[in-house]
Amino acid sequence: MYLSFAQAAVDIARQAGAMLADALRETHTVESKSELHNMVTEMDRRVEAFVVGELLRRFPDHDICAEEGSGTDGGRSFRWHVDPLDGTNNYVHRLPWFAVSLGLERVDAEVDRRLVAGVVYNVMHDEMFWAALDEGAWLNGERIHVSAESDLGRSLVTTGIPYWGKAHPRTLVDNFERIVTACGDVRRLGAAALDLANVACGRLEAYFEEGIQTWDVAAGALLVREAGGRVTDYDGAPIPMPTAHILASNGAVHDPLQRLLGGNYRLT
Ligand code: IPD
Repeated sequence: MYLSFAQAAVDIARQAGAMLADALRETHTVESKSELHNMVTEMDRRVEAFVVGELLRRFPDHDICAEEGSGTDGGRSFRWHVDPLDGTNNYVHRLPWFAVSLGLERVDAEVDRRLVAGVVYNVMHDEMFWAALDEGAWLNGERIHVSAESDLGRSLVTTGIPYWGKAHPRTLVDNFERIVTACGDVRRLGAAALDLANVACGRLEAYFEEGIQTWDVAAGALLVREAGGRVTDYDGAPIPMPTAHILASNGAVHDPLQRLLGGNYRLT
């Protein structure tokens, strides 16, 4: 039912990724947003303008919520959550780990099934992840599934540090300590959409982060669900659209991780 939306998003994300790859080695205009290290480049804006233009051309009756603010809000039934460049900090440092992330939310759908299509494109690795509700999750034409690992002590878990984390590190450090002592190891890779995509394809067992935005995680959350995993908040509640805190996992390690994180967050 939602396949054609995912296919359109794959096409747009591939073109957007080519723009990012072509410009990676150029010197970028870098501005800071709320914090010094919360950066935006001319490429975030240029690629967002392209993506938003393409989405509106193909789906003029959809709304768009885009990271750099060029969206629309007309109270319509479908809303795209667009991150034109997830991993901006990596991009600025020419670390080849960043993505285009496009997630589609059906605003009028029943509450736990609102995410209906999602694409995460790992540009420099040419890995196109996509999912559509009840159609499974896919990577470059192959169906993907979460890992079967059920032992936390062997699990590789990834996390992120919200931009306000330097000013309010207490709960973040506390959660990191709890998770790193219980799990095999922890990574901080710098692009939330790719964290989720790599949980979906079984390379990572789980991802958790507080302070994410819908454009960071809408597409990736659907990937994890369609790959057989679980997505909740830190208290274990299913979340239609992740906003304050997110725990995404292969399902098998979800409950023990959730018990470590439950109740320990700054934002509600
Ligand atoms: C950021 C990345 C990062 C995560 C931050 C996000 P951006 O997105 O996904 O991994 O820790 O919370 O804001 O700013 O690069 O699009």
